[in-house]
Amino acid sequence: MQIFRLSTQHLLRCASAAVLLLASSAFAQNSPAPKPDTRPWMNKALSPDERADLVIKEMTLDEKMNFVHGTGWNGLREGAEIPKGSLGGAGYVQGVPRLGIPGINMADSAVGIRLAAQGSHYATLLPSVLGAASSWDKDALFLYGSVIGRELRDTGYNMSIGGGVDIARDPRNGRNFEYAGEDPVLAGTMVGELARGVQSNQIMGDIKHYAFNDQETGRTTVNVSIDQRAARESDLLAFQIAIGLANPAGVMCSYNRLTIPPSVPTDWACENDYLLNKVLKKDFDFKGFVLSDWGGTHSTVHAALSGLDQEEPGSKYFGDPLKQAVQGNQVPVSRLDDMVHRVLRSMFSTGVIDNPPVTQVVDPFRGRDDAEHIANESIVLLKNAGDILPLNASSVQSIAIIGSHADVGVLSGGGSAQVDAPGGNAINPHPGASIWMEHVYFPSSPLKEIRKHAPNVKVEFDPGTDNAAAAKLAAGSQIAIVFVNQPMSEGMDAATISLPDNQDGLVDAVAAANPHTIVVIESGGPVAMPWIDRVEGVFEAWYPGIGGAQSLANLLFGEVDPSGRLAITFPKNDAQLPHPQVPGIDLVKNPGPGHHRTGELPLFDAPATEGVRVGYKWFESKQEQPLFPFGFGLSYTTYEFSGLKASEHQVTFTVRNSGSRAGTEIAQVYAVLPASTGESSFKRLIAWDRVALAAGESKTVTLKFDPIYLSIFDLGKNKFVLAPGDYEILAGSSSHDTTLNTTVHIAE
Ligand code: BGC
Repeated sequence: MQIFRLSTQHLLRCASAAVLLLASSAFAQNSPAPKPDTRPWMNKALSPDERADLVIKEMTLDEKMNFVHGTGWNGLREGAEIPKGSLGGAGYVQGVPRLGIPGINMADSAVGIRLAAQGSHYATLLPSVLGAASSWDKDALFLYGSVIGRELRDTGYNMSIGGGVDIARDPRNGRNFEYAGEDPVLAGTMVGELARGVQSNQIMGDIKHYAFNDQETGRTTVNVSIDQRAARESDLLAFQIAIGLANPAGVMCSYNRLTIPPSVPTDWACENDYLLNKVLKKDFDFKGFVLSDWGGTHSTVHAALSGLDQEEPGSKYFGDPLKQAVQGNQVPVSRLDDMVHRVLRSMFSTGVIDNPPVTQVVDPFRGRDDAEHIANESIVLLKNAGDILPLNASSVQSIAIIGSHADVGVLSGGGSAQVDAPGGNAINPHPGASIWMEHVYFPSSPLKEIRKHAPNVKVEFDPGTDNAAAAKLAAGSQIAIVFVNQPMSEGMDAATISLPDNQDGLVDAVAAANPHTIVVIESGGPVAMPWIDRVEGVFEAWYPGIGGAQSLANLLFGEVDPSGRLAITFPKNDAQLPHPQVPGIDLVKNPGPGHHRTGELPLFDAPATEGVRVGYKWFESKQEQPLFPFGFGLSYTTYEFSGLKASEHQVTFTVRNSGSRAGTEIAQVYAVLPASTGESSFKRLIAWDRVALAAGESKTVTLKFDPIYLSIFDLGKNKFVLAPGDYEILAGSSSHDTTLNTTVHIAE
């Protein structure tokens, strides 16, 4: 079967390559070489800023206005007008054909391109961003972004509006799967690499939702308040790192309101002078444009003067009202020119004007292979009692596969990050694009892949809808693998980290029937595991993408060593969290079962009382033991660390594979700041490396890090400073397991 599948893939690949070749050679024969464009701004020797200014000189006021707002809801709302030139994605900005400036076609593409089905396109579903961040692999995240960029190019889009880097302050946030976890340095680095990957295809990239859009409950009415120093050292640091790495074309400001004492009064994120002008544009030196989240603009003059450059998706405030404000001098022409300049310079700097997308058939096989590669590194092995894993296909006689539609597919995340499944939802096929908040399964069948890896083993499936039937199959099988799921989406938060739909009861029933039970979790984020002591194996598979089933089988049978490590803490229960409930969730009138569709709520306050202590920092400062700490994950081999040396910008140590199989350890380096900083009750991640080691092999690694990762934000100086004192530097295999330590002294 495997051979047949590969050869079919090969044939299809060759066929599509041949079609492309024929098409391009026919084109080459019939069309004369295009005349060079001699317009002054097409001179590539000039900088993007010079080129943008040359265009602006030629533009009328109306042409300038095109670039500061979108053209409506396009493909997002049934019946909405799709303007000429728009591909029907989430946003469209009209260009100026007279000057050779194309329009901007924006596609939601957090984990793959959204709404592909409506254009009869294929789009690769990648593992969730949280999963990919758990690879701690910069190259994998660059690859992630380049898959998105490549497929955007192939379908004619020139801007991605993915790149979410909101910090996981609450594990119940419905969009955590779109983001890169709880640590600002890890998340910022991973999402920065992702956006670089997008832009490497000469597609405009984006980072969102700026900032503190860390919950879905009341996202358009909530007022998040957080102390300014904590703000700079947490969420804003993640944005700073991502933006610094990627130089993205766009930054999408968020829906929520913000209060940042001591000096920043309450305001919407999309018209917040501190956030947009002072921090983003001045301190981070962001050269691109700020676009509002869809419907996140609230005023004309105030928003324009506070740093918003483009209203999306429509023109309620930045259409005629802004034109009149410019004509009436309430918004200076120079500010309008700055807004337009930021858009145009991003178009030049990314290459969308010099090398616009050329549509061609998306290569689904290449996308699938890339998705599987990333999933191999993302899935985290959390428990392996008695070395039940990896499974040995030649010594196991029977395996029961139970639950979560594992016979047909793997779960994906919802909302604007929803990708359309090829052939439709595997559990509910219907024509057209996915329906908002439906639970979409992709046709990557764990049952089939496990059977392929174990052709001589009896592998049977039970849907898990009846605990007694599931237990019966489990009791008659040598190994039981239970799949459980937690569907998550934009527009909702989980009411609790407990699994929905009584799935804990299913695991209990199976574990009681079979002592060799392995649980595979497909979830948006952390879930509670009250049954953890009664099962032998646990994999956190996240939403594993279109290559998810293959990847799971690779890991279950040990063809790939598990190298994923949690990018987010797994608490034991909700009571351990800074907020026992998601703030504002009590205002939701008609919560769904287990989840809360948030809808519109009245204005309310959500003080981020945990401040800088997000995730593991909270647990450490409270001396609480989570279920699984940040950075945790098992391998099929073991590692030893030795010989740590450190300075204020670099560490060196040795990692040895002390087991008998090859594997990849994620060596993690943390720091504890001096007591004078007030931040000595928890660690901070400052560096890491993926170290691939053959059995018995040792490698000495030297890791450099930015001294701001050791610094505190000094409000008076408005910059990061290294406080004098002793810094404890620790290295090991998770935030909890740091076997090495040394001290670095920073003098006054
Ligand atoms: C989401 C954004 C998304 C936009 C367009 C908003 O509701 O918050 O992330 O890009 O819609 O679909």
